[in-house]
Amino acid sequence: MARIALRGRLVDFVGDPTHSASAVRVVDDGLLLIDGSRIIGRGEFGPLSRALNPSEEVTDFSGCLLMPGFIDAHTHFPQLDVIASPATGLLSWLTQHTYPAEMRFADPAVCHETAGFFLDELACNGTTSACVLGTVHPQSVEALFAEAHAREMRLVAGKCLMDRNCPSELRDRGDQGMHDTMDLAARWHGKGRLAYAITPRFAASCSELQLKLAGELARARPDLYVQSHLAENEDEVRWVRELFPQARSYLDVYDSVGLLRERSIYAHCIWLDSSDRIRFARSGALAAVCPTSNLFLGSGAFDFRQAMQTGMPVSLGTDVGGGQSFSMLATMRAAHDVARIKASALRATQLFYWATRGAAQALGWDDHVGTLESGAEADVVVLDPAATPLLARRAARADSIESLLFALMILGDDRVVRETFIAGRPSKARRPPASTTARSDDARTLELSRRFMGRLRSVPGGGVPKP
Ligand code: GUN
Ligand code: ZN
Repeated sequence: MARIALRGRLVDFVGDPTHSASAVRVVDDGLLLIDGSRIIGRGEFGPLSRALNPSEEVTDFSGCLLMPGFIDAHTHFPQLDVIASPATGLLSWLTQHTYPAEMRFADPAVCHETAGFFLDELACNGTTSACVLGTVHPQSVEALFAEAHAREMRLVAGKCLMDRNCPSELRDRGDQGMHDTMDLAARWHGKGRLAYAITPRFAASCSELQLKLAGELARARPDLYVQSHLAENEDEVRWVRELFPQARSYLDVYDSVGLLRERSIYAHCIWLDSSDRIRFARSGALAAVCPTSNLFLGSGAFDFRQAMQTGMPVSLGTDVGGGQSFSMLATMRAAHDVARIKASALRATQLFYWATRGAAQALGWDDHVGTLESGAEADVVVLDPAATPLLARRAARADSIESLLFALMILGDDRVVRETFIAGRPSKARRPPASTTARSDDARTLELSRRFMGRLRSVPGGGVPKP
């Protein structure tokens, strides 16, 4: 792959904004040099551009922000078609919409088609990495890994372990679920930028034996991730209490078998008490807060203040299809609103940090992604603050990086994402589906019109005045 040079405002983080006011790093007129899949240089446009080879072209994203690609810490690819399906709460939503939809993933063709669309949709929204749940079927995760590998994405995924309290079509039999887990991990963990996550769906869908075996594997293989759901909904918490009467709490069910440790990612974490929070923080696990899902399903409001005071590592997840959007901007916006319900306030810099460097650090990927540092993998999102008339108007009045990021998060969606580079490759245009010519013609037309629109937007005066 050739070298590319991108001009724009470079914005990334050198620390956690909770602890340091100078955690955000900005180069107003910056240049990012990419060679193949890596960033090889960064800095002020003036001096750096003079060092360029005369044949090297600069792609001009002036007026746009160049940031590390977003990291979605919790989502479900087989729930793509469940998005926007209302229910009265988590448990009825699972039985009415989600489990029936997941049954279709016994078919490998459904797995491949959905995985391709899902990964395209992530890229359209500026998301370059994600922690993804498949269904119970190993072929679902096989398809997702194959599609992600072809795109050179950094991705964590796992097949759901579930052997009770779910439809029989979705149930692991005997220890087959653990065999499938080990088989998938052997095939995909560490291949390219892929990693495997042991994925007990949630305590209520796993027998004590299945959880124990998953915990044994988690202890034996600290290099593997663990992902699951924790304390999302009050009915669910009551149910788990009935199923595991000996446990002190929902968290204790996982901790007692060895599933709470570094590289464990727990979605939601709403209904925890203070002793659970302390235990969670000490374990090194990561909370993936999914506010659009929590609002959509009426699950509750995550207590950001308590979590931060206790030192729980926090990241953000879309939780599609309980979540309402693939957009990490929409997810940050909802996180902000949920924090307001609890009378606390989250700054945009904090939320962008969680969606980029914070998640990368918590997942053990620091220095690889979540940063625009030289040497990092070239996962980069280009955000256009002039993408819509209202945003352009508001962004023109932004007098600080905090104010500009805040406007992007409140008013932005996938229209703001001008381009997404995954391992140095522009990836926003949808990939033509492999199967039909007619549909690939459509995709080509779409790509051409996007490029045309991109050029229109980059004419002089199309950008936003610099604050
Ligand atoms: N708990 C168990 N399964 C699920 C799921 O698919 N989505 C959400 N949001 N919570 C769950
Ligand atoms: Zn989920």
